[in-house]
Amino acid sequence: MKRVFSGVQPTGNIHLGNYLGALKQFVELQKDYQCVYCIVDMHAITLPQDPKELKEHILDVAALYLAVGVDPQKSIVFVQSDVPGHAELSWILTCSSYMGELSRMTQFKDKSKNRDGESIPTGLFMYPVLMAADILLYDTDLVPVGNDQKQHIEICRDLAGRINGKYPGTFVMPEGYFPQAGARIMALDDPTKKMSKSAENIHSRISLLDEPAKIKKSIMKATTDSDGCVRFDVENKPGVSNLLSIYSSLSGVSIAELEQRYEGRGYGDFKKDLVEITVDALAPIRQRYEEIRYSSELKDILKEGAQKADAIAQQTMKRVRESFGLGL
Ligand code: TYM
Repeated sequence: MKRVFSGVQPTGNIHLGNYLGALKQFVELQKDYQCVYCIVDMHAITLPQDPKELKEHILDVAALYLAVGVDPQKSIVFVQSDVPGHAELSWILTCSSYMGELSRMTQFKDKSKNRDGESIPTGLFMYPVLMAADILLYDTDLVPVGNDQKQHIEICRDLAGRINGKYPGTFVMPEGYFPQAGARIMALDDPTKKMSKSAENIHSRISLLDEPAKIKKSIMKATTDSDGCVRFDVENKPGVSNLLSIYSSLSGVSIAELEQRYEGRGYGDFKKDLVEITVDALAPIRQRYEEIRYSSELKDILKEGAQKADAIAQQTMKRVRESFGLGL
């Protein structure tokens, strides 16, 4: 059976972009793949974190995985730092990576600018190498992620190819898996920026655990334009196009069909219906989350997941050490 791997950072405010770009695919892929889903706490510490909050956010994301429909009977769910192979492989990959290629990563450039003269943490620079280690450690075939991770998948493939060129058969070559609609959900208040966990304005995003009243407010306030026509045109109508992507992705109705449905009806009706679709999609997730988040089962699932993940990771690491001539 082919294998899927993906991860989410435990940094709070998991939003509709994370869901439509990644988590929704996590659930669908369980039918046909052996899936390994990780909570990447070691990536989170590339920026300063409050230790108590981090621990809580790890459990929040674990509960959300299960709440959206990741099934721990079928898939492995675990915390990155519970499996030592991630850090070990990350170092080995570091020795095959180049400063130049890491300097070109747009996420690194974004996160390291505007720091008011503050030092840039090396972890931020090495972030893509740790991500490559996550993926390669599980002989992964497919990586479901949003478009913002494309460059990181490419560097992972470059590293795997480079090392396989020297030591054939060391790594399985992974491929990115991007959804047709929803791969890049934009901020509701500014559709030129992607929806993000860290934006100050809470109405820029819909968090998966938002109450219906908050969802309604955020969507009704969402930036559109003045021509009143529900049409998909990212360049000239980025706000409306973003709302259409969300609508289509949540409802399964194609964008062309939605354009027809709302022809001549203006934004009011369109937004009202989108509120309903979104509230209906998120209500069961919120309910399951409440049931799972403080259950004693949650930590047991993560512990068992870490054992299963570690067993796969150890096999890979044995092969990698052999390839590089490490150890006895
Ligand atoms: P993270 O935690 O930032 O985001 C989790 C997932 O959500 C996707 N995403 C979006 N998709 C659509 N529209 C958006 N506005 C949006 N914002 C975020 C991300 O693409 C991601 O799939 N580097 C990863 C975590 C990671 C990882 C891995 C992923 C670490 N190791 C190995 C895959 C494989 C990240 O920061 O995700």
